[in-house]
Amino acid sequence: MNNIALFCEAETRHVEAKKLALKLNLALVNNPPFPPYLLVLTEQRLELRQPGRHGPGPVFVDFLSDTMNYRLRHGDPKNEAIARAIGLKKTKPAVLDGTAGLGKDAFILASLGCRILLLERSPVIATLLADGLSRAAGHSQVGHIIAAMTLIQMDCMDFSPLSPDQRPDVVYLDPMYPHRHKSSLVKKEMRFLRAIVGNDSDSDDLLDWALSLASRKVVVKRPKLADHLGPSPSLIVKGKKNRFDVYLIN
Ligand SMILES: C[S@@+](CC[C@H](N)C(=O)[O-])C[C@H]1O[C@@H](n2cnc3c(N)ncnc32)[C@H](O)[C@@H]1O
Repeated sequence: MNNIALFCEAETRHVEAKKLALKLNLALVNNPPFPPYLLVLTEQRLELRQPGRHGPGPVFVDFLSDTMNYRLRHGDPKNEAIARAIGLKKTKPAVLDGTAGLGKDAFILASLGCRILLLERSPVIATLLADGLSRAAGHSQVGHIIAAMTLIQMDCMDFSPLSPDQRPDVVYLDPMYPHRHKSSLVKKEMRFLRAIVGNDSDSDDLLDWALSLASRKVVVKRPKLADHLGPSPSLIVKGKKNRFDVYLIN
């Protein structure tokens, strides 16, 4: 990937930065000219930046942020569209999130009591997510939620359970949305994600894979007006900004 390099801002983390650059196969840069994106190791965390004076602020994973926790503190998360789509009965389902990204949806599901396996194929995004998970692990308010989340960096289509009883109840998918031309309409995080991972052009195959793996249902998050990933779903749960296509397994 030549649109991103690693930059170490932390005085005390240069050895770690060298190891990380090797692991992610990124150039470790010290000075401009910088590529369009930088993965930056600060004293506190790992973040993604667009260098330059007018660049937007950094993107990083923060499960302790007010925005992430607002939904936990206010309102009833069980009423969230994502919760209704997954279906939370007395026994909480084991969910496999095949497109983990920055882990926000997985965090909501884990906060509702689901055990959740997160698979993310982009090494850079998986490393950002792992950094966020490790900073929040053990925290008094969210530590128990993080403990229910397990991340593996891999292409989810290479995942197969060791035995049939290890099949997840629910497979959750949120592939990158079709490209929008008015880039100002697309949130900063999504623009950064798209720059790093591309367009998920193989997302149609994801549904077939998910349908062969889930024991109860597959839930696909889509923009309100987007086409279905594959065939029409069994039911649709409408959210404020998105909809969730639910495919029931017979
Ligand atoms: C829109 S983002 C997901 C956002 C996520 N739901 C969240 O709440 O932060 C899509 C992510 O899926 C990942 N992805 C796409 N296809 C994948 C695959 N086959 N296996 C694993 N990850 C995949 C992309 O790398 C990208 O990070």
